Amino acid sequence: MPSDNTVRQLFVTTALPYANGPFHIGHIMEYIQADIWVRFQRMQGHQVYFVGADDAHGAPIMIAAEKAGQTPQAFVAAIAAGRQRYFDGFHIGFDNWHSTDGPENHELSQEVYRALRKNELITTKTIEQFFDPQKGMFLPDRYVKGECPKCSAKDQYGDACEVCGAVYAPTELKNPYSTLSGAAPVLKHSEHYFFKLSDPRCIEFLQRWTQQGHLQTEVLNKIKEWFVTDDEGRGRLSDWDISRDAPYFGIEIPDAPGKYFYVWLDAPIGYLASLKNYFAKTGHDFDAFMADPATEQYHFIGKDIVYFHTLFWPAMLHFSGKHMEDGTYVPRKTPTNVFVHGFITVKEEKMSKSRGTGISPLRYLDLGLNAEWLRYYIAAKLNAKVEDIDFGPDDFVARVNSDLVGKYVNIASRAAGFLHKHFDGRIANLELGSVGSVYWDSTSVKPYYDIALESFRLKSPVVIRAYEAREFGQVVRLVMKLADEVNEFWDRAKPWELSKRFANPEHPSDPQWLHRVCSVVIEWFRLLTLHLKPILPKVAEEAEVFLRLSHPMSFADVTSVLPEGHRIAEYKHLMQRVDPKLLDALFEPTTIELPPPGGEALAPEVNIDDFAKVDLRIAKIVSCEFVDGADKLLRLTLDVGEAKTRNVFSGIRSAYQPEDLVGKLTVMVANLAPRKMKFGVSEGMVLAASHANEKEHPGLYVLEPWPGAIPGLRVR
Ligand code: 2FM
Ligand code: ZN
Repeated sequence: MPSDNTVRQLFVTTALPYANGPFHIGHIMEYIQADIWVRFQRMQGHQVYFVGADDAHGAPIMIAAEKAGQTPQAFVAAIAAGRQRYFDGFHIGFDNWHSTDGPENHELSQEVYRALRKNELITTKTIEQFFDPQKGMFLPDRYVKGECPKCSAKDQYGDACEVCGAVYAPTELKNPYSTLSGAAPVLKHSEHYFFKLSDPRCIEFLQRWTQQGHLQTEVLNKIKEWFVTDDEGRGRLSDWDISRDAPYFGIEIPDAPGKYFYVWLDAPIGYLASLKNYFAKTGHDFDAFMADPATEQYHFIGKDIVYFHTLFWPAMLHFSGKHMEDGTYVPRKTPTNVFVHGFITVKEEKMSKSRGTGISPLRYLDLGLNAEWLRYYIAAKLNAKVEDIDFGPDDFVARVNSDLVGKYVNIASRAAGFLHKHFDGRIANLELGSVGSVYWDSTSVKPYYDIALESFRLKSPVVIRAYEAREFGQVVRLVMKLADEVNEFWDRAKPWELSKRFANPEHPSDPQWLHRVCSVVIEWFRLLTLHLKPILPKVAEEAEVFLRLSHPMSFADVTSVLPEGHRIAEYKHLMQRVDPKLLDALFEPTTIELPPPGGEALAPEVNIDDFAKVDLRIAKIVSCEFVDGADKLLRLTLDVGEAKTRNVFSGIRSAYQPEDLVGKLTVMVANLAPRKMKFGVSEGMVLAASHANEKEHPGLYVLEPWPGAIPGLRVR
């Protein structure tokens, strides 16, 4: 329970990533930022629902799926299956991860649309757009290329020329072509549906909403531009085109056959859909929660999607409420705040979506780099402004090694060593004022450890305020300053010199000096850990075990103190230093980051001659039997089109019974040197697929050619 007894209920989201690729470091930064804030709120005793989802719809995903030979549903499902690895790896604790293609989103999006229509905020207009006659679809601007109308540079996109910088409409391109088929596009009319953002009600609402303290100053300044009117009083907010024509992967617009919602209409509704999905699974009442004025709604987003989240989204929500029987109108809840962050650059280079970025999150994890190093580093760099932050490898190593490990983690190991060696791992009496006669120095009026702990208690509310305000850089600075104090205290107390005498050299009357020094340092470590816990959840969890705490720490535990006689565990290393070589490895050029297929990275490249050295042949399994004394093997007799059959031992017994295989065709390595085994000579190898980690991903699949192949044919 928070100190003022009010439990807030928060609904927190991060921007929904397009389901057409793996996460890059920018996604991870946003998730870490939001996750820290969420963990902080929970440690304050508040109730938080933290959800995300894949943004599944839109033309690019539909086209990517088609290229991959998959349905869009299967395509996005495969992407979704890869997400958990990142969340687990970086300790990102979403309560739910859903998809904008889920049934809740179809239903909610149509509901929102119907309500907007009822409020007379939907209109239709006929527009003219390029159409690919070969693909039979309208072409989004990015799928049209041609010659620049100004400088005639070839292969320029439909909106701007990369050579001369000219800006134009796709219809102005010379010799335009569809990047999907190469065909010359034709202009075609189509009726589109629009959300009337230019309606005076919308403008009036948005002007009010944006001024209600929901937004950061920089965001507000940006938004002001959108409300400027020209000389004729026309605002810049124009109606928003929310429809796309079939074929489109999206949600059907009610009563408009062949029309789908533009992906950006249903994407933010996906926030609600994910929460609704979660509530259904956990037995909560979604409608009641969203209708409760006490519910606070927060969206963490990047600076590139401010327009969608501060104009379209609040307007959609506000005007898709309910008309009650008594004639009143109850709008939907609008965001309490939209928290906008900048981009993350790597070595000061702007990251490029096509080239990827200097850091691949999965490579980071696969190299064994500690996720909490990154969480700490990102936290140290973040503030509540819309500023870009930079990942600098040297800076990273310095902050992790000297601050995080050097100043914080090491405190525990030092003090615990002494405590176990001399005092059975037990804490001395640390109650404030308990030993009034012992002073840090002659000028202090308080016992040394009182000063230490009081200093912490004074700073704690400042740290809490910084967390609440998302000033995580400030949090880290404040906590590291407290860590500096404890290190100073330790160095001044010189326990290594005391360990034989135990007594305070300046105050020999205190025979318990060493015990108190170590105990207060452990208590100090507990408090440092508590204040870093939102940033370092794993370290904190391990520290809780080390300190033998009875429950996971929250901010309510700031005022408690380790009781006298409490016995802590032996120190186990909580965190290593970064080896700078690992960072070099992180920046080595790599191919695009897909999760390693089958659990292992691709083998080094070979050329066609290398490949040709392996003679693969179609083989018929003539007979197959168990091998006595070998519980993994089957003995296969193979016909490879030669005068005599071959004897091959294969480790596939866990997956096949002999009778499954007899009579089947498969592929074998026919020129593998014969290998003498305990049971006989193996004259080749049968090909089968398996995951690198067979224990966790069992399954063995013997290859089988398509019908028509015959024994002896070479596979090339
Ligand atoms: O920019 C993007 O990556 C979008 N997929 C973000 C959507 S956020 C929300 F509206 F769903
Ligand atoms: Zn040009």
